[in-house]
Amino acid sequence: MNPIKPLKLGSLTLPSNIIYSPLAGCSDYPFRQMVKLYHPGLVYCEMVKMDALVRHEPNTFHLLDYDPSMHPIGAQICGSKLEYAAESAKIIEDLGFDVVDLNCGCPVDKVTKDGSGSGMLKTPDLIGEILRKMVDAVSIPVTVKIRAGWDEGMINAPQITKIAEDAGAVAIAIHGRTRVQKYRGDANWDYIRDCVEASKTIKVLGNGDVFDGQAGLSLFEHTGCDGILVSRGSMGKPWIAEDIERFARGEEERIATPTMIRSALLKHMKFIQAYQVEKRAVIDMRRVGCWYLRSQKGTKKLREGINRAQSMSEVDALIRNFDWEEQPALCHS
Ligand SMILES: Cc1cc2nc3c(=O)[nH]c(=O)nc-3n(C[C@H](O)[C@H](O)[C@H](O)COP(=O)(O)O)c2cc1C
Repeated sequence: MNPIKPLKLGSLTLPSNIIYSPLAGCSDYPFRQMVKLYHPGLVYCEMVKMDALVRHEPNTFHLLDYDPSMHPIGAQICGSKLEYAAESAKIIEDLGFDVVDLNCGCPVDKVTKDGSGSGMLKTPDLIGEILRKMVDAVSIPVTVKIRAGWDEGMINAPQITKIAEDAGAVAIAIHGRTRVQKYRGDANWDYIRDCVEASKTIKVLGNGDVFDGQAGLSLFEHTGCDGILVSRGSMGKPWIAEDIERFARGEEERIATPTMIRSALLKHMKFIQAYQVEKRAVIDMRRVGCWYLRSQKGTKKLREGINRAQSMSEVDALIRNFDWEEQPALCHS
């Protein structure tokens, strides 16, 4: 049976259960414009801090810029202070977001040192209390994103699944790595399956290591999850949701051709140019260019050129003048 279908999150029905993750420093406005062309069920903005929201820091609000065409759109908040939970969730709702998510997975020391991000995995009851404050403050669906546990000795994702359900969250995303693992090794999808078993009503979203259509379908099949969250697999492959849908329908996996990569890169570049000042656009193109080209053989010179370029006209010329026809089709990444 094809597992790709609409996903009901409380009062909201997403058109698809393939969701694109929050990605700090990556899922910015141009990224979201780009991925929306390929119809994921929901796209999250980059994580923002609760205290910065409550203090109305302009840079934080800038990260939450969006265009109506990006609906349904989610925002993710991060923090461990109970007193900020309701107000920050309400700010997100007032900004017009469709979903608000609580980050309990960020492994960065700067974030965990005050007990937030994946630091929250050590205080599961606090996760419940914060979620309850958020749920009481807003009418949009509240979701939470966690890791399997702090380390292999403390795998508590199933326990947190129950806590989140009791607190009124409508979905929980589980990244199948521990905090100690950070991004090393493979995600263990068995932990996600354990959360599916622990859930009575809360929707479980599987996350970790989905880089192509086949992996997306396998994650559904292995865990029985209600939806999946694609993260690094969407970087430079904005069409991965379509690849997963195609694979689930039993069609051949599409191989990205050099022409497809060229046109996507140029399109993403236009979105960046329209949103960022020139200097920032040049810097962003180094990151984005690398995403699209890293699996493409014979593009080292182009990548190096983009990394050295000092203006967007130079980046544009490098991409347009590159001999794309000579390049072999992109291998599956
Ligand atoms: C550059 C980068 C930024 C990330 N930013 C966030 C974030 O803001 N919020 C979050 O919950 N997870 C964040 N993550 C974690 C991903 O959403 C995801 O859980 C993780 O990468 C595992 O999925 P994957 O193996 O499919 O990439 C980030 C990951 C990366 C690589």
